[in-house]
Amino acid sequence: MAYGLLKGKRGVISGALNEQSIAWKVAALAHAEGARIVLTNAPVAMRMGEIDKLAEETGSIIIGADATKDEDLENLFIGAKENLGGPVDFVLHSIGMSPNVRKGRSYDNLNYDWYKQTLDISALSFHRMIQAGVKADALADGGSIVALSYIAAQRVFSGYGDMADAKALLESIARSWGYHLGTERKIRVNTVSQSPSMTTAGSGIKGFAELFDFARTMSPLGNAPTEDCARYVISLFSDLTRYVTMQNLYHDGGFSSTGATQEVVDRMGTE
Ligand SMILES: NC(=O)c1ccc[n+]([C@@H]2O[C@H](COP(=O)([O-])OP(=O)(O)OC[C@H]3O[C@@H](n4cnc5c(N)ncnc54)[C@H](O)[C@@H]3O)[C@@H](O)[C@H]2O)c1
Repeated sequence: MAYGLLKGKRGVISGALNEQSIAWKVAALAHAEGARIVLTNAPVAMRMGEIDKLAEETGSIIIGADATKDEDLENLFIGAKENLGGPVDFVLHSIGMSPNVRKGRSYDNLNYDWYKQTLDISALSFHRMIQAGVKADALADGGSIVALSYIAAQRVFSGYGDMADAKALLESIARSWGYHLGTERKIRVNTVSQSPSMTTAGSGIKGFAELFDFARTMSPLGNAPTEDCARYVISLFSDLTRYVTMQNLYHDGGFSSTGATQEVVDRMGTE
């Protein structure tokens, strides 16, 4: 059921790679809630072609942009403003990749060129994206910007490697931009810290299936599905949350506040 929460709003959504992507669910729901959107992804992801289907379903155009390239991002926001007929009310950053994690390099044996790429793709890109939007004068006052994070920013998860550092930086960037865009322009900036989810980025992590199961048993509500993550993000884009900013918001079924569930205790007893 749609509520018209984003009726008349314009947005930019990054990171929809395939139907499993969190960004895909957000884009589909934003469209259903009445928004007009521009989709973006790295040129290499666009060549895989699945995003065309989403564009068709949501009546959107796609503007390719490598999120590590300022010029691409400025073109994205200039193009979005032109296509949508005005500055955007919301932006989703749903981008993450670590060459070290992907190639199995553990935290005590990092390749530093790849480490820089991890930080650039997964965190600095958030800063770049917002700065490009500001420079192109393409962000509407009173708007809302969200990036997706993970609790490895606060606690160690063995297989998450240098992505943990990227997420900590991402959350800090959200706070800093939240201050700078809040004071005069009332634009809010938040991160949503999502449960482990079966997506392309998620399943690239070593031991992901086990981590997914662990998180499920440690979350009173269970792991939060990506469709529900989209619902939460839409509420943050809507006018219902105009005074929420500079926060890292857990969307994790209660995982972040749980010490031990009875299921985990019972499991220990059987070993
Ligand atoms: N899947 C999980 O378990 C989980 C949990 C918490 C947070 N997150 C975060 O959610 C976000 C979205 O990931 P997802 O799980 O939907 O996976 P996904 O693989 O579907 O999305 C990741 C996206 O990042 C894009 N990307 C990578 N490099 C890029 C670049 N240089 N420029 C532009 N785009 C680039 C990819 O093309 C892809 O669309 C990421 O930030 C991820 O860390 C995921």
